[in-house]
Amino acid sequence: MIARVKSCGLSGLDGYIVDVEVDISMGLPAFDIVGLPDTAVRESKERVRAAMKNSSFAPPVKRITVNLAPADKKKEGPSYDLPITLAILAASEQIKAQNLGDYMFLGELSLDGQLRPVSGALPMVICAAQNGVKNVVLPRGNADEAAVVGGINVFGADNLYQIIKHLRGDEPMTPNTVDVASLFNVRSSYLVDFADVKGQQNVKRAMEVAVAGGHNIIMIGSPGSGKSMLAQRLPTILPDLTFDEALEVTKIHSIAGTLPEHTSLLTTRPFRSPHHSISAPGLAGGGTIPRPGELSLAHNGVLFLDELPEFGRDVLEVMRQPLEDGVVTISRVNGTITYPSRAMFAASMNPCRCGYYGDSVRECTCTPPQISKYVGKISGPLLDRIDIHVEVASVKYGDLESAEKTETSAEIKERVNKARQIQLERYKNDGLFCNAQLSSSAIRKYCALSAEEKALLRAAFDNLGLSARAHDRILKVARTVADLDGSERIHTAHLAEAIQYRSLDRKYWQ
Ligand SMILES: Nc1ncnc2c1ncn2[C@@H]1O[C@H](COP(=O)(O)OP(=O)(O)O)[C@@H](O)[C@H]1O
Ligand SMILES: [Mg+2]
Repeated sequence: MIARVKSCGLSGLDGYIVDVEVDISMGLPAFDIVGLPDTAVRESKERVRAAMKNSSFAPPVKRITVNLAPADKKKEGPSYDLPITLAILAASEQIKAQNLGDYMFLGELSLDGQLRPVSGALPMVICAAQNGVKNVVLPRGNADEAAVVGGINVFGADNLYQIIKHLRGDEPMTPNTVDVASLFNVRSSYLVDFADVKGQQNVKRAMEVAVAGGHNIIMIGSPGSGKSMLAQRLPTILPDLTFDEALEVTKIHSIAGTLPEHTSLLTTRPFRSPHHSISAPGLAGGGTIPRPGELSLAHNGVLFLDELPEFGRDVLEVMRQPLEDGVVTISRVNGTITYPSRAMFAASMNPCRCGYYGDSVRECTCTPPQISKYVGKISGPLLDRIDIHVEVASVKYGDLESAEKTETSAEIKERVNKARQIQLERYKNDGLFCNAQLSSSAIRKYCALSAEEKALLRAAFDNLGLSARAHDRILKVARTVADLDGSERIHTAHLAEAIQYRSLDRKYWQ
């Protein structure tokens, strides 16, 4: 007898339906799984057998063949335990097969029949809903994230026996629900605030612009000038997440297994600051069971690399393409997978080895070749992809002592949110969230300049020796400055501010 049960696999960020087919026939007792299973899937035999026995079912002493279709995609991880078990029970007529048609099942089983949470539940349930599946049964630990998906009944279960009772109609479970609106009402609180940073008005302004438009930013300054301190406060002014952005972020963290248990939706922007000892795969993603790296975990949020030149050269090179395309592509034996990585990139660095090149007080002890070697670690193409360069000067004693009230993060965030709202409204038909995501054609459409501004840009181009890439980036930043100003058009002052954020590379990189 044959039974068929639906489950789901993952390719990159998207799910695809997997049909779990089981055939039970006479012959020597055997248990085979075919359809490109990995080690974890093959080991599910032992878990399935034990879980059945310990849930008072008898594993059939016959020839069992499990096929996971489509056969050309590699099946990874332990989430097929549950569908395989149910298909075997149906094929051996211990439960009725006709009850299984409207369901998708996901979940790892422990030997005693308890269900363990799996990673990637959110994208798999989204896939189920898109394919018209009516119900999904999964481990209770995954129910909160899955319940965010509309148009499908989500049942979180503790163990196999509970599911059987539900399917038989003996003790139906009630679907899990979440109130999505209330999730967004939770205000996050931070221990740090921009009000702690005295002076540094120009850096704070540059950060506000960067955050408002999602632009990449690099801070250059001597040790102790407050670069790390400023960066730590970036999360406090990040704009609120929209529901669509939150769903993207949660999907990635669901796959990476970094979603805290009983979390429905991540509603604050991620802020990732990996140590400089990180490897290239750690940043880009990969592994035997592919996992998103830091670049993707920071999607729709911020990736901050403190002391940028300390990172390995291969690590820095691996960032170039994702920064440009907003996706990471990982090659695997059987094809490639892509993860989104549209993060705002923030970095800090000293201007030279001793740290005091260009400092107004301390003298730099580096020779010119040493300085170029140090900044040379940041290649031209990488630097080109950073829209905003800002110099952090050592804070003046007067500023430190000053009792003058400094602006709080909440005040800055309010302006940032307003500017984001303008962008969301403008790009609502383009599927974009912020200015940093504009393509070349969109730039021509939304960042048009009049003759006066064009002349200014041309002059800057000739004087600063800018690249074509810098041209587009200046326009995007100018668009953000105008949005912060509530201006429909980009005026000279907006453009001039954007150009000024590109003028530092000449000082340090030539
Ligand atoms: N503008 C400032 N206002 C208040 N404290 C500051 C300021 N700049 C630096 N500091 C103090 O100096 C310390 C060192 O700053 P840090 O961010 O570690 O510098 P950097 O990362 O540039 O080497 C901070 O922890 C803070 O106590
Ligand atoms: Mg530091």
